[in-house]
Amino acid sequence: MSTGPVQPNNDADRVKIFDTTLRDGEQSPGITLNTREKLEIAHQLRRLGVDVIEAGFPITSPGDFEAVRAIANEVPDVVIAALARANEKDVTVAGDAVRDASRGRIHTFIATSDIHLEHKLRMSRAQVLAAAIAAVRLARTIVDDVEFSCEDSTRSDPAFVAEVVAAAIAEGATTINLPDTVGYTMPNEFQQFLLELYDRCPPLRDVTLSVHCHNDLGLAVANSLAGVQVGARQVEGCVNGIGERAGNASIEELAMILRTRAADLGGLWCDIDTTEITRASRLVSRLTGYVIQPNKAIVGRNAFAHEAGIHQHGVLSNPLTYEIMDATSVGLARNSIVLGKHSGRHGFDHALKELGYELDPDELNAAFARFKDIADLKGRLSGVDLEALVSDEMRVEGGDALTLDDLAVTTQLSHAPHATVAISDADGTRHTGSGTGDGPVNALMHAIDAAIGSAGVLLEYQVSAVTGGTDALGEARVVCEIDGRNYAGQGVSTDVLEATAIAYLRAVDASRRASHGERVMAGGV
Ligand code: KIV
Ligand code: ZN
Repeated sequence: MSTGPVQPNNDADRVKIFDTTLRDGEQSPGITLNTREKLEIAHQLRRLGVDVIEAGFPITSPGDFEAVRAIANEVPDVVIAALARANEKDVTVAGDAVRDASRGRIHTFIATSDIHLEHKLRMSRAQVLAAAIAAVRLARTIVDDVEFSCEDSTRSDPAFVAEVVAAAIAEGATTINLPDTVGYTMPNEFQQFLLELYDRCPPLRDVTLSVHCHNDLGLAVANSLAGVQVGARQVEGCVNGIGERAGNASIEELAMILRTRAADLGGLWCDIDTTEITRASRLVSRLTGYVIQPNKAIVGRNAFAHEAGIHQHGVLSNPLTYEIMDATSVGLARNSIVLGKHSGRHGFDHALKELGYELDPDELNAAFARFKDIADLKGRLSGVDLEALVSDEMRVEGGDALTLDDLAVTTQLSHAPHATVAISDADGTRHTGSGTGDGPVNALMHAIDAAIGSAGVLLEYQVSAVTGGTDALGEARVVCEIDGRNYAGQGVSTDVLEATAIAYLRAVDASRRASHGERVMAGGV
């Protein structure tokens, strides 16, 4: 059995990793990332070594456009893709968004299945073909690197897919993506489908074939692997497998399969630096508010834990008894940073750099002040605490955030819990409010609503400790319905009620940002 990486050497066997955490991942219900957060994730994706970052869907909102443009401007050495439906406006706007990228890509798509044509697009096959041709042709006048996708390809007539793909290649598409949009296919069936496409459309061998699999039946990674085994050389996925509905293929799982089973995969390899996986996973989880299930492969908290005595004994004698991967290969256990209340700015700055954060001087000052406050209360902060604290700071974008100035919550067995809060607006206006509720969290939300006129309905609420110990930092996560839509927020503090109030204010903030830059396109992709 081989568990280590096989030395990659053949470019033809290289599988490009196309990360769509910031586009398909961001389409998950309740996720709203601001530009600062998207940039942070994009920088980490670059460190992780992905080949392509799909940074967003620029036509959908001014916020999406700005985020794609910022990433295109700031993140070097990686292809930055922008998504566009197959129409002139989408393609032009996507092109504008990636214009300044050192390597920009327009990714244009249209559905090819009859069910989508009839019920969503209300277009004939001839119209779809014409739209695909026009979109790729236009995109190629803007950038050299054009990806074309047949949405819902696995439920489409292969003859029609082949016709559209051949036309897209003739117009200059350099990557052809065949998505399993609704997560319906099975590995052997998907392989047959791709092989049939190669047969029906020989020019497909001259471009990069990409696969993009959703996880509705839990087969996204298996289908992606099946795809690369018959010739696909790009896989699309998201960190932690987030994405529409049940999510997209998880890129950390794909990367670790390619690494761990390299000897059995005929030389397939990818350029992911697997030691950056844990950091990428934590960052995405924290900023999106999507908690990772403890038993999730590769990045779940239990993925490398051994509970049963018999397993522990085996692992201590020889890790290979129960471990097929080494925890350090995914970046676990290398984080030994500890800072205390006597640590200075220099040490703090150094630790952040080691963790991969590059803050500008203002951000560094704000994070350092926050670190000092928490270190006073908590004594020592680990690298994981610092990650929580810094990514928490990043959620405050520009000056538009509501800030919690003060809060008091009283609970008594004989009385309903009561809360009062003081909150500042971006322009410094102070609002106060108070409220009672069934419990302290309910009272706190009523107090915030009374202060700022919000009206959120709490759908999900979680509090967790960032690290172990009774002095651990607490992280609160809320998902609220506000004005008919769901918004997530997270907050970190040594006081879980303060963390809760911050999380709720961020959800309110997200709803206000969304209503300013209302999404132009209704529905998912
Ligand atoms: O799932 C899908 O089909 C997509 C396309 C836009 C690539 O996300
Ligand atoms: Zn998708």
